[in-house]
Amino acid sequence: MHEHEPRAQFKHMEEGTAEDWQIISQAFGGFARELPDRVIDHLRLLEGDCGGFPVDRLTHCLQTATLAHRDGRDEEYVVCALLHDIGDTLGPYNHADVAASLLEPFVSEENHWMVKHHAIFQGYYFFDHLGLDRDLREQFRDHPCFDRTEEFCAKYDAAAFDPEQETLPLSFFEPMLRRVMAKPKRSLYKKSLDPQPERKTA
Ligand SMILES: [Fe+2]
Ligand SMILES: [Fe+2]
Repeated sequence: MHEHEPRAQFKHMEEGTAEDWQIISQAFGGFARELPDRVIDHLRLLEGDCGGFPVDRLTHCLQTATLAHRDGRDEEYVVCALLHDIGDTLGPYNHADVAASLLEPFVSEENHWMVKHHAIFQGYYFFDHLGLDRDLREQFRDHPCFDRTEEFCAKYDAAAFDPEQETLPLSFFEPMLRRVMAKPKRSLYKKSLDPQPERKTA
């Protein structure tokens, strides 16, 4: 708690002034810069939780990212691989949506789509064991990102449950994560975040 930091004075937002919003905007800068730290902390919550799988959830994420990195994927893709299951803790019923929302401001539409739909595509490998339709992903067969997402699951996500396989540590991926999350490509607030041009005076 930062008790001595300036605060806006409104009780209802309709009373908000430009000064209030300057205070809030200034505070936002630091808060936004700390996003990668919060993401890393959250990723660490996956450590030690196997949920019945052969490796814990953090190892699975690290191994998925390791496979993608070793296969020559670019940094943004590797970060998507690293975070694709970060939603397991808060979104056990829609974990892919959690990761996709977190990544959306920072990655291409193709990578966002891939992360958002990876759970349905991954189901090809096990839905039949749960009484579900393993071909649920076929509804997206004609989508331009179908092949990309199918490949992500086949080569990296579905392959990352091996306790004997190389798994690079979180510290290896941290700089990539910080670079990818340094600046949003897409955001409702983007225009307000860009440097404002000098106002011309008459
Ligand atoms: Fe997943
Ligand atoms: Fe996964």
